[in-house]
Amino acid sequence: MKVPFIDLQRAHAPLKEELLEAFSKTLDHGGFCLGPDVEAFEAGFAEELGLAGAVGVGSGTEALHLIALAMGVGPGDEVIVPAFTFIASAWFSQYVGAKVVFADIDPKTFTIDPQSIEKLITEKTKAIVVTHLFGQAADMEPILGIASEHGIKVVEDAAQAHLAQYKGRSVGDIGDAGAFSFYPTKNLGALGEGGAITSRDGELLDQVRILRAHGSKERYLNHFVGYNNRLEGLQAASLNVKLPHLRGKTARRQKIARAYLGGIRNPDISLPMPARYGESVYHMFTIRHAERDRLKAYLAEQGIGSDIVYPYPLHLQPCFNFLGYKEGDFPVSEELARTCLSLPIVPELTDEEVDYVIEKLNAFE
Ligand SMILES: Cc1ncc(COP(=O)(O)O)c(C=O)c1O
Repeated sequence: MKVPFIDLQRAHAPLKEELLEAFSKTLDHGGFCLGPDVEAFEAGFAEELGLAGAVGVGSGTEALHLIALAMGVGPGDEVIVPAFTFIASAWFSQYVGAKVVFADIDPKTFTIDPQSIEKLITEKTKAIVVTHLFGQAADMEPILGIASEHGIKVVEDAAQAHLAQYKGRSVGDIGDAGAFSFYPTKNLGALGEGGAITSRDGELLDQVRILRAHGSKERYLNHFVGYNNRLEGLQAASLNVKLPHLRGKTARRQKIARAYLGGIRNPDISLPMPARYGESVYHMFTIRHAERDRLKAYLAEQGIGSDIVYPYPLHLQPCFNFLGYKEGDFPVSEELARTCLSLPIVPELTDEEVDYVIEKLNAFE
């Protein structure tokens, strides 16, 4: 049996007719850069996720960049970022000339450890970027408490966490702003690049609307330096087709996760621990094993795809050499990078495929 780690063909085949119909409408109305499809998506996405408002941009990375600009983060400022996340979380500070300050993660949830934040705060700290990693919400309450005590902004990197909840609240609507990605492999993916900025702060949303379109509110009148970060009409059209399926697909991911949590009994494998405060939407199902590379090779021999997400913690990335971090600075992040392995969890997997993965993991010695 062959079990893919990701299978975009399988995900899109049943939607092909609907997608082509949506693209045909976009061709007819011609709204390719912003336009009616983007407007419909912004409203639909906010409503489906229970968010106050959303602004479509070209990618999750662009979302983080524009939030940093709108918050006025810049040279001389420090931004606290988890040491274990996708690199773009750290571009938040680096694109605007601020300094990234890394924090370790919690070994249970793999999200930023609130206890490690307090001691990193200086009078230069302007923001904390919280990544809801692998679909699991970070522990927001203590983070918001620290932030409000020190007058610091909280940015939610929700690129991997569409529909994730924290104590009944939607991620992306809890901090000062949220950044979502619609990269094709995300829980909600476009057919190319896409992203959104979310916030309860209407002024911030107005500001990023201007920033994404060359700093212009009125055509050819530019108030400040802006960017070309518009969400494309065809991408929004694809997202409008896929959005109604997100809830069902998320439930399927959670069902597969429950099967893994109940079925994997290999004593050498550490399973992810569901947090008490909100169920993960399982963008990834990430296990740990001391001999991760041998396990990965074994799974490949059995026809099972897997991926190392991520092999390097951010403080040891060459691009951050200049900051002087060294091995041992963030033991939890480093250990996870050494031992993590993500299993197939796309919603299109069959029950037989999931059972096969469990069987092969339990047989690994
Ligand atoms: C945690 C995280 N942040 C940010 C991004 C950046 O999103 P994008 O690829 O849409 O630029 C991603 C996605 O790759 C991500 O996983």
